[in-house]
Amino acid sequence: MKKITQLMLITMLLVIAIGCEKLVPGAPEPGDTIAEPTEGLTPSQLAQFVQGDELFAKVFTPAEGLGPIFIQSSCEGCHVGDGKGHPFNTETRFGKLDSNGFDFMLDKGGPQLQFRSLQNYIAEVLPPGYTHTSNRIAPIVIGMGHLAAVSDADILALADPNDLNADGISGRINYVVPKSYFIPQPFHIPNNGMYIGRFGKKAKEITLLDQIVFALKQDMGLTSDFDTEDLYNYQVGIGATDNVPDPEVSSDVVNKLLFYMRTLKTPTRRNENDPDVLAGEQIFDQIGCVKCHISTMTTGSSEIEALSYKVFHPYTDLLLHDMGSALDDGVPEGSATGSEWRTPPLWGLGLAEDSQGGTGYYLHDGRATSLEQAIGFHSTGEASNIANNYYSLSQTEKDQLIKFLKSL
Ligand code: HEC
Ligand code: HEC
Repeated sequence: MKKITQLMLITMLLVIAIGCEKLVPGAPEPGDTIAEPTEGLTPSQLAQFVQGDELFAKVFTPAEGLGPIFIQSSCEGCHVGDGKGHPFNTETRFGKLDSNGFDFMLDKGGPQLQFRSLQNYIAEVLPPGYTHTSNRIAPIVIGMGHLAAVSDADILALADPNDLNADGISGRINYVVPKSYFIPQPFHIPNNGMYIGRFGKKAKEITLLDQIVFALKQDMGLTSDFDTEDLYNYQVGIGATDNVPDPEVSSDVVNKLLFYMRTLKTPTRRNENDPDVLAGEQIFDQIGCVKCHISTMTTGSSEIEALSYKVFHPYTDLLLHDMGSALDDGVPEGSATGSEWRTPPLWGLGLAEDSQGGTGYYLHDGRATSLEQAIGFHSTGEASNIANNYYSLSQTEKDQLIKFLKSL
């Protein structure tokens, strides 16, 4: 009897404690929010970070140049809370394959479909004659500055295009023609005038700046000094665009977004010392997931002191891998073929459900709604042996592996 009373008292006290906690929101626990600055920024860098954060969340209006055709009105609209996005905002690239090769149909509104439009303007539809589409959901964008600061030499060292070590896994570089405004850094290594692509799902962008300029235009219909030609719907007619003078966003806006992308902190892990998580990490290494999802990288020298020579854990090699027929969308980008995808970083994987509205959507187009399914799609192409290793695990081992992935 006495014990029960004590239990009741403790429960009541707990209820009160939880109640109070809800009324008085404290500072978020580490890992609760992912839009945090990298540690070690100077006060003026922190101020720039905050301005970039606001621009990332800013909803652009038609008067500021949004559209006339677009997919979303803010970066954050797709990269919710800097995390993975919902398939509702899927990007569709399209084109036509014929005897001359793959044509992105630039004269018919390619390479990307803008399926939303301003009032009184017609949204784009897929043009007649297209043969292939490539659908992509927004990836997590935290830690990008760390990936941007890895030297080309480190990426080259991971590549094994002819599988010389005969482990069944190659890893290829997507060499990309640089944009006119590209300024190589000391760590960039050219190859016949081309440079190593590392951003985007097929690694078609060399720098974060390239990615941002592309997003402003192709996702939001915003011109900048780096790309001054506005979008218009080819069905409506050449030049039929909005009346906002170009460039619609200033270089200052682009630079602040870039600074924000560079200085977003890498994700904080959760439960990393849980025995199951530790066992799962070992399984991840043993069965060979780590051959592509490389756990540790180091940045080179950076003029942002906080990014210089930092060891971090992205779980990617930034290389292209042939994932076989299961993930082949027939759309090439740079030298990446339809079945080749850049290994995505796995960091932040356990936070995906939060930013995607409760259900996790995985792989480039969000076709997998569980991590088990995402691994299942590794069964054709280069990762097939490793996927088989996964299927030979006991149920306990599989559960431990998933627990590890969710701790990232
Ligand atoms: C319509 C949804 C959408 C909007 C709006 C959008 N993005 Fe993205 N973002 C994507 C998708 C999809 C990709 C993958 C693109 C690819 O495969 O080429 C991506 C890729 C990226 C990447 C590279 C990530 C990686 O792992 O390589 C960065 C960085 C990024 N976006 C930043 C931004 C910024 C900054 C803005 C605002 C200026 C923005 N995005 C607006 C959907 C969006
Ligand atoms: C040959 C290289 C390779 C190996 C080995 C490999 N992966 Fe992948 N993984 C990839 C690529 C490339 C993708 C992206 C495919 C896509 O988006 O269509 C991917 C995607 C994923 C995703 C989805 C990530 C997301 O953000 O949607 C998960 C989860 C994943 N891999 C886990 C694993 C696990 C666990 C193993 C070991 C059983 C493994 N991978 C082995 C290359 C590899």
